[in-house]
Amino acid sequence: MNGKRAAGRKAVEEIKDGMTIGLGTGSTVYYFLEALAEKVADGFHMTGVATSQKTIDLAHQWNIPMQPLNAVKTIDITIDGADEVDALLNGIKGGGGALLYEKLVAKASKRRVWIVDNSKKVEQLGTFPLPVEVVPFGWKHIETYLEGKGYQPQVRRGDDNEPYITDAKHYILDLHLTSIADPRALADELDHLTGVVEHGLFLNMTDKVIIGYPDGQTETLA
Ligand code: A5P
Repeated sequence: MNGKRAAGRKAVEEIKDGMTIGLGTGSTVYYFLEALAEKVADGFHMTGVATSQKTIDLAHQWNIPMQPLNAVKTIDITIDGADEVDALLNGIKGGGGALLYEKLVAKASKRRVWIVDNSKKVEQLGTFPLPVEVVPFGWKHIETYLEGKGYQPQVRRGDDNEPYITDAKHYILDLHLTSIADPRALADELDHLTGVVEHGLFLNMTDKVIIGYPDGQTETLA
């Protein structure tokens, strides 16, 4: 068993019959969805709200009942992955490009649980490049500004070498920061930059983190 699978399968213990569940994105969430699909096949009732087209496609493939975010009043719990998480339960997300919808779904949720393998635990955030979602119009000017700040932005590209396009039709600039000494200050700065739609700093936005280990064991931080 790998750590992602251990964490993903453990997370089904968090859900109860009748819940509306936010479904994150990524290779760890894949294992959660797989376990959830098994429960649904056994008669478990739930409604899922996806954070990406990839997750919608998987949910449809596995007969998991889904609704769009606008069709639900509130989400009982969201299970999502993360790219880095520190001891204060702050994290970087968006390696899979779904950060905007992930943050919207997280904010609509009463409870939030992240599932990660042990490689995602860090002392300080920032080794993983920080995704910043920007509008395509004039994006090079945002890149130049971020370069001037020393943030080493790099536009994310797809297999065709064209800029990667998010589900909401934006681009992503990945900031190569190495370490983030003050995540709150950086988040505030990015929150106020014209043309930035969202960034991957998720601060104080999870209630629990389930960490999976290669031997199949899990650890919970809350
Ligand atoms: C998607 O945009 C991300 O926020 C993912 O949740 C994150 O990248 C974790 O992905 P993995 O579970 O694939 O490592």
